[in-house]
Amino acid sequence: MPLINEQARIIENECVGPRLYLMVLQAPRIAESIEPGQFVHVKIPGMADHILRRPFSVYATNPATKTIDILYQTVGYGTDFMTTLTADEGALSEVEVLGPVGRCWMPPEHTQRALLVGGGVGAAPLYMLAEQLVETRVHTDVILGAQTEQALVCRGRYEVLLSAGTTDQVAPLCSTDDGSFGRAGFATSLVAEALEAAGQAGKQYDYVAVCGPEPLMRAVADLCADAGVYCEVSMERRMACGIGACLSCVVETTEGKLRACVDGPIFEATKVVW
Ligand SMILES: Cc1cc2nc3c(=O)[nH]c(=O)nc-3n(C[C@H](O)[C@H](O)[C@H](O)COP(=O)(O)OP(=O)(O)OC[C@H]3O[C@@H](n4cnc5c(N)ncnc54)[C@H](O)[C@@H]3O)c2cc1C
Ligand code: FES
Repeated sequence: MPLINEQARIIENECVGPRLYLMVLQAPRIAESIEPGQFVHVKIPGMADHILRRPFSVYATNPATKTIDILYQTVGYGTDFMTTLTADEGALSEVEVLGPVGRCWMPPEHTQRALLVGGGVGAAPLYMLAEQLVETRVHTDVILGAQTEQALVCRGRYEVLLSAGTTDQVAPLCSTDDGSFGRAGFATSLVAEALEAAGQAGKQYDYVAVCGPEPLMRAVADLCADAGVYCEVSMERRMACGIGACLSCVVETTEGKLRACVDGPIFEATKVVW
């Protein structure tokens, strides 16, 4: 799929949780072509002294409105500045969006049972994959971890999706660091239990996808390697060009240095040298 550079109108840019914002962008051509796990490279207007684009995974698309949703966390200058953009008319009501960029999630063919693990804002890049799996009648379990209940902002959408699907788990299993919702502690304990229970029942997962902080992805990758389950991870790196030219985003792998922007961001977990 060739890269598209679209001038996208901001339809919504709302605070949805602690340091978490949902931006809805009208980007018809990207909305119809983006695959789960791919990302867009966003040029934020009004940041004269910061010319680099910022990469964001696409959380969801809406074919009716031809929009894409981005869930972003404020961590620095660019994302702080993004919160000031509005849906009102004017120079700050549009962003330039380059996409779809990168390799999408690729569950093995004939996957019947999948487990998706999202940590923090990493819950968002898994949502379109969950939609695709549920639609194709793959049994899909979801585990979400966050610091607090308020930060579990994707939980509602997953609940609606899973309750409509074929899975017998109608809500995502959740953990919070402070114990305010679900299991107290990190999501890894839920993942370990899910893999063990599935193995004991003779219904091991065919596929695990994980996105979130690197320690979470590494821990889940190790658990999957021990259980013999195929696992993919989404590697975030600081990016400059976003098109494979500058090598600022390299990931160390068993096949050498690969670029997160075009060879990833999705990688087979066993190939990543953590
Ligand atoms: C493929 C991909 C998909 C992403 N998807 C999302 C998403 O859906 N939602 C979301 O909130 N964020 C996502 N990110 C991270 C997001 O791009 C960064 O948080 C953002 O670029 C930071 O910009 P800034 O100007 O606010 O931060 P800066 O002021 O440039 O830096 C502030 C801090 O953020 C860290 N940082 C900067 N860029 C990145 C990066 N690319 N990855 C990790 N840490 C970074 C820096 O190390 C620094 O500590 C994604 C990153 C990649 C590579
Ligand atoms: S960001 Fe330039 S090669 Fe990946």
